Amino acid sequence: MATTDLERFSNEEKRNLSLGGHVGFDSLPDQLVSKSVTQGFSFNILCVGETGIGKSTLMNTLFNTTFETEEASHYENTVRLRPRTYDLQESNVQLKLTIVDAVGFGDQINKDESYRPIVDYIDMQFENYLQEELKIRRSLFNYHDTRIHVCLYFITPTGHSLKSLDLVTMKKLDSKVNIIPVIAKADTISKSELHKFKIKIMSELVSNGVQIYQFPTDDEAVAEINSVMNAHLPFAVVGSTEEVKVGNKMVRARQYPWGVVQVENESHCDFVKLREMLIRVNMEDLREQTHTRHYELYRRCKLEEMGFKDTDPDNQPFSLQETYETKRKEFLCELQRKEEEMRQMFVNKVKETESELKEKERELHDKFEHLKRIHQEEKRKVEEKRRELEEEMNAFNRRKVAVETLQCQSLQATSQQPLKKDKDKKNFFSLPSSCSITSGRYVN
Ligand code: GTP
Ligand code: MG
Repeated sequence: MATTDLERFSNEEKRNLSLGGHVGFDSLPDQLVSKSVTQGFSFNILCVGETGIGKSTLMNTLFNTTFETEEASHYENTVRLRPRTYDLQESNVQLKLTIVDAVGFGDQINKDESYRPIVDYIDMQFENYLQEELKIRRSLFNYHDTRIHVCLYFITPTGHSLKSLDLVTMKKLDSKVNIIPVIAKADTISKSELHKFKIKIMSELVSNGVQIYQFPTDDEAVAEINSVMNAHLPFAVVGSTEEVKVGNKMVRARQYPWGVVQVENESHCDFVKLREMLIRVNMEDLREQTHTRHYELYRRCKLEEMGFKDTDPDNQPFSLQETYETKRKEFLCELQRKEEEMRQMFVNKVKETESELKEKERELHDKFEHLKRIHQEEKRKVEEKRRELEEEMNAFNRRKVAVETLQCQSLQATSQQPLKKDKDKKNFFSLPSSCSITSGRYVN
């Protein structure tokens, strides 16, 4: 059924009935109010601005109290986010207020990455909320929502123009948080300069495509005041917790030798406008915008990153269940592919190692054969030598026996014919010319 048919069908189905008496569902808004009041509210403000620009003083002035303030040093290596949570009560309404300070902002020599810790902090709060939402057992009812509802961006009152750090930071933050720019320490700039400065800032923000928070004009009750206030942006504020006597009244003001700057005097600064817009009129819209616009964007991007989508490639609705099944199948296929790849790799490796081992074995075998040949050759030579020596030894022994025989014979002959002694001696010693007897040893 086409959407238009569906609409027509549901319009036809809608029935207007007039009630005969009081039923009671007109108390639903009261029930909601009562429930919300019991539950309490949370509101989280992020203050971004240079060290000593007046962030803490403005917070104290806004909530008319003294939050713990700790001066930041100018020597922080990086920007650090410092959240502090306070439980406040006004009438019977409970407010859990978290003020997050970007400590050390603008103090580093290299400011290229100054925005990153702020962006990461905002994303981390969205991530925590998303994780709670995705839990099987969610407890969003009593979950302490730490998502940043508004970022007060403190602009230094130079009267000149925005710094590139301001533009870059606001540009990086504008899709993640509602930005309300304020000109800090507005008492340090003259009225005409302030007017020009405001116009310059707005035109710079527009030309650089920075989206700041616009007070909503769709609700009739606040449309007029909000559209007037939109034209006053950025608010030029003065903060002070000091009380000064003006006339016969004590007012919060800053006293100078030449006069008094009253914080709550609208002709002195825009503090009251900021307080009205931020707290009295648009606090709920800021909370809603955070949830429906910024968190929604974060959630969508995150889920898309994880592979979830609402429609398939043919633009047909695609449920979470189907996405899960498809992802699971894809994952299993990928796993199988990886497994097969690993198996193949293993087989190749084994084959490679096997052929390497075979090659090594062959080399060893060759070496062994070579050594064996050398050994046999050596053995043959030794054998030959031994044979030769044996032959020599035999010859020597033969000669020795012959000599001994001759000696014996000669001895016998000497004893029988002493006269023939000299002659026989001569014969006995007539050895071959190559032989001689030296010191009783036979030498060849
Ligand atoms: P860190 O937290 O240390 O970064 O400082 P901060 O931005 O919180 O500034 P803080 O409120 O501590 O104020 C720093 C100084 O500025 C103090 O001396 C304040 O009195 C002074 N100051 C605060 N607001 C204003 C203002 O509106 N006008 C002027 N002239 N001085 C202000
Ligand atoms: Mg401070």
